[in-house]
Amino acid sequence: MEQILNKSFEMVAFGTLAIAVPVFLLLLFIKAPYGRHIRQGWGPLLDNRIGWFVMESPAVLVFGAIMIFYAKWDTTAVLLLLMWQLHYCHRVFIYPWTLKKDKKMPWLILVMALVFNTTNAYLNAWSIASQGDKYSDVWLSSPQFLTGVLVFFAGMALNKVSDRQLARLSSAKSETGTYQVPYGAAYRWVSCPNYLGEIIQWTGWAIATWSLAGWVFAVWTMANLVPRAIAHHRWYRETFKDYPAERRALIPYLL
Ligand SMILES: NC(=O)c1ccc[n+]([C@@H]2O[C@H](COP(=O)([O-])OP(=O)(O)OC[C@H]3O[C@@H](n4cnc5c(N)ncnc54)[C@H](OP(=O)(O)O)[C@@H]3O)[C@@H](O)[C@H]2O)c1
Repeated sequence: MEQILNKSFEMVAFGTLAIAVPVFLLLLFIKAPYGRHIRQGWGPLLDNRIGWFVMESPAVLVFGAIMIFYAKWDTTAVLLLLMWQLHYCHRVFIYPWTLKKDKKMPWLILVMALVFNTTNAYLNAWSIASQGDKYSDVWLSSPQFLTGVLVFFAGMALNKVSDRQLARLSSAKSETGTYQVPYGAAYRWVSCPNYLGEIIQWTGWAIATWSLAGWVFAVWTMANLVPRAIAHHRWYRETFKDYPAERRALIPYLL
């Protein structure tokens, strides 16, 4: 097993990186059909909350299993494991239950996310587990690790606070049946601060691990979320005539 994980690493990492480019271009024209952009023609549907729980689970399980079986238990590896699991345990065990009960998502989205999360968890866990010498205690005081951890937690805070604001609007939506314009905190500047937070968070991870796998994940997060932020922003402008004109899609004052 160890040999397979080792041999396939570079091929899978560069393959995943190469696919990010067409995915980004495609998503600029075709909105991923879940959430507010769900529509007919994307096959059978399943419960949205179950979908989120199942499709994010490999990130917890695959990453955890590889670390348990193959990592050297140095402080650095343990801290990286905790950072990863802090995010993904929340995403799997808490986040889905903050979403509305009666919403659906296509099975296709679930299958694609399962493939991505499994691959991504393998790449990032194996990258740490197979480089025990790099991630020794010395790495803890490296500029990459210190900067990356700060960036990671700043991004995580922005993502979680912004998602929380949407969850409150979402429960109001259950009563009125309509979306509302989010206000306050980072929504003053952009339509999708939760996506901006996610991008910052995984860029922080890439810096903290200073690894091919970390950068592949950061690039994929951008490839996924930049087009989706543009689509959300366009949707807000079309839906709400009084939508704040100064607000941008993802990056304050720029995009
Ligand atoms: N790393 C990656 O590549 C990646 C990819 C995708 C998502 N994510 C992360 O996963 C999380 C969820 O992503 P998402 O695409 O589902 O986010 P989203 O479109 O912003 O929606 C999040 C939740 O808030 C609700 N909501 C959004 N705007 C609302 C409004 N104006 N009024 C009322 N309710 C509103 C949505 O309801 P509806 O479902 O009814 O629209 C949904 O339940 C985010 O933290 C995101 O960063 C990460």
